[in-house]
Amino acid sequence: MLRFTPIRLGKLLLRDHTSGVLHAGDCVGTRAGFSTGCRGGRLEGKVAIITGGASGLGRATAHEFIRQGAKVIIADNKPEIGRQTACELGPQAQFIACDVRDERQVADAVDFAVSHHKKLDIMYNNAGIPGPIFPSSIVDLDLDSFDRVMDVNIRGTVAGIKHAARVMVPVGSGCILCTASISGILGGLGPHSYTVSKFAIPGLVKSVSSELSRHGVRVNCISPFAIPTKFVVDQFSGLYPGADPAQISEIVKGMGELGGTTCEESDVAWAAVYLSSDEAKYVTGHNLVVDGGFTSSKRLAMPMPMPHQGD
Ligand SMILES: NC(=O)c1ccc[n+]([C@@H]2O[C@H](COP(=O)([O-])OP(=O)(O)OC[C@H]3O[C@@H](n4cnc5c(N)ncnc54)[C@H](O)[C@@H]3O)[C@@H](O)[C@H]2O)c1
Repeated sequence: MLRFTPIRLGKLLLRDHTSGVLHAGDCVGTRAGFSTGCRGGRLEGKVAIITGGASGLGRATAHEFIRQGAKVIIADNKPEIGRQTACELGPQAQFIACDVRDERQVADAVDFAVSHHKKLDIMYNNAGIPGPIFPSSIVDLDLDSFDRVMDVNIRGTVAGIKHAARVMVPVGSGCILCTASISGILGGLGPHSYTVSKFAIPGLVKSVSSELSRHGVRVNCISPFAIPTKFVVDQFSGLYPGADPAQISEIVKGMGELGGTTCEESDVAWAAVYLSSDEAKYVTGHNLVVDGGFTSSKRLAMPMPMPHQGD
């Protein structure tokens, strides 16, 4: 688990007030919580956009992408957090304000990558919202709230794929990633709107990869287990009123233990590194499930026969 401590800024940030962009290298300081020294090189020279990269899984992935030699543009609708994250990640990170619900802003983020770096290698459509956990019954579902979840989780992802494809297809290469969820594999793990939105992501990936594979553009998604990011802690606090964030984190971690280990942001980041790397050059249309086996089986509601001694 990454741990963050406050950064000490050594000079003022230089912001382009017309674009809302925070430029790489504008920030120097103690980047506690991020090790900026190690460059692995599996993504050496690649340029990535990560939507929702200001926090949680997107932020952890940005950190790992940079360690692997990539330049990362964090596209997020929370400018304050996004700028701070870009500072903490160091000179290989840039921030652009981007609300994925607005196609123009997604197009601008893609154009920003191309104008600054002459290319876009990786588009990670990760921004997502859970929507309200209550009311939980379909009978009481508020369709406006349903639309709000779809706007971010589906429309925003479609916009990201569309505009990444616009610049990747002409050059005949590129990697598009999306964040789905175990809530897109089994029903009943999340609210209806969220579940429906996450079921749609692997379908979207299949549909688009079938077109883009012949253009050299790969499209995949990652389906993580629950990880106590802000998103999940906020959601679970509705289920456990009175519990503090640390207690909720422990509850979430305890839900999916695999042989003494739990799902962490870095597990998703490593999945994203693999899918974005040249080592995955023949992998497209895939849903990489990172769930410690959670969705692999359902235990029967009966005692399992004990193996005979000596078997
Ligand atoms: N944390 C988990 O347990 C978990 C599990 C499975 C899938 N996911 C998915 O992972 C993705 C990231 O979630 P997280 O857990 O890191 O949550 P998070 O809340 O820490 O991060 C989500 C980021 O998305 C940004 N965002 C929200 N709406 C946006 C918009 N309209 N435009 C641009 N950015 C926007 C937020 O500002 C935030 O930085 C989501 O798609 C979520 O559904 C999370």
